[in-house]
Amino acid sequence: MAPRKIIIDTDPGQDDAVAILLALASPEDIEVLGITAVAGNVPLALTQKNARIICELAGKPETRVFAGCDAPLKRKLVTAEHVHGKTGLDGPQLPAPVMPLSPGHAVDFIIETLRNHPSGSVTLCPIGPLTNIATAMQRAPDIIPRIAEIVLMGGAYFEVGNITPTAEFNIYVDPEAADIVFRSGAAITVMPLDVTHKVLTTRPRIQAFRDMGTRTGTMVAEWTDFFERFDIAKYGSEGAPLHDPCVIAWLIAPDLFSGRKVNVEIETQSELTLGMTVADWWGVTDRAANALFINEVDADGFFALLTERIGRL
Ligand code: BDR
Ligand code: CA
Repeated sequence: MAPRKIIIDTDPGQDDAVAILLALASPEDIEVLGITAVAGNVPLALTQKNARIICELAGKPETRVFAGCDAPLKRKLVTAEHVHGKTGLDGPQLPAPVMPLSPGHAVDFIIETLRNHPSGSVTLCPIGPLTNIATAMQRAPDIIPRIAEIVLMGGAYFEVGNITPTAEFNIYVDPEAADIVFRSGAAITVMPLDVTHKVLTTRPRIQAFRDMGTRTGTMVAEWTDFFERFDIAKYGSEGAPLHDPCVIAWLIAPDLFSGRKVNVEIETQSELTLGMTVADWWGVTDRAANALFINEVDADGFFALLTERIGRL
């Protein structure tokens, strides 16, 4: 099968970094048409810079990286330096990127790419707040039926929330954008906390990256070490969830995952539960299913894939 053409929409973030590395290390499965940065974990000035740092680390400075929206559609930006550090990529020191930012706005790139490729041939992979994707849909509704699929990291049902008691970070930051995307009619696969909390960076799994003896392997080990401290303290878990790489792993090896087609709606009104992904897991309404909501993963298989691919870089 020809590699799947994707756009990664991202707010790096250490787990975003691992997702991007996994995609760039997998040319037989994935062709990265471009990376679009959005404000999220840290402000846009840092996410677009971090995306370029990651491409250079992967030895792919020719990758096109675009800067997108610097604030959510209707709200003030909420960031997550308490998880990712001041730069968003805290942990190991990395040099400032040499590769340039691509000219033009990320939203225009998303629109033009979907218009210029055959309908149904480009998959969108959002792993940050959905501001760029929703803006593209609002500005150019003709692109919606041209999207092959949206595979995103966001939301939760059984795990409920990580930034508030009832909301996951990516959805909480821009709930209006998430609402537009979930109502769009595009085919959507969701990697919620219910599945990402099952792919934990245990000691032996991090050591496998370190043992590669490569610059990238060491970086991944140190990033996940940094990122992990917060989650271990918070959840008392064995390690940190590698949220965003689940999106890319799904594209490469969907058999590692399973879930249910359900209706998902986004809470945009309540102060108490803002950004909640209300998933009709038990089918108690007659609301039509609009997303494949993943909740199970073969974590050992996931890390075997990740380790093999990162080892190539
Ligand atoms: C999501 O929020 C970000 O902090 C991570 O990069 C991930 O995309 C997890 O809730
Ligand atoms: Ca992210």
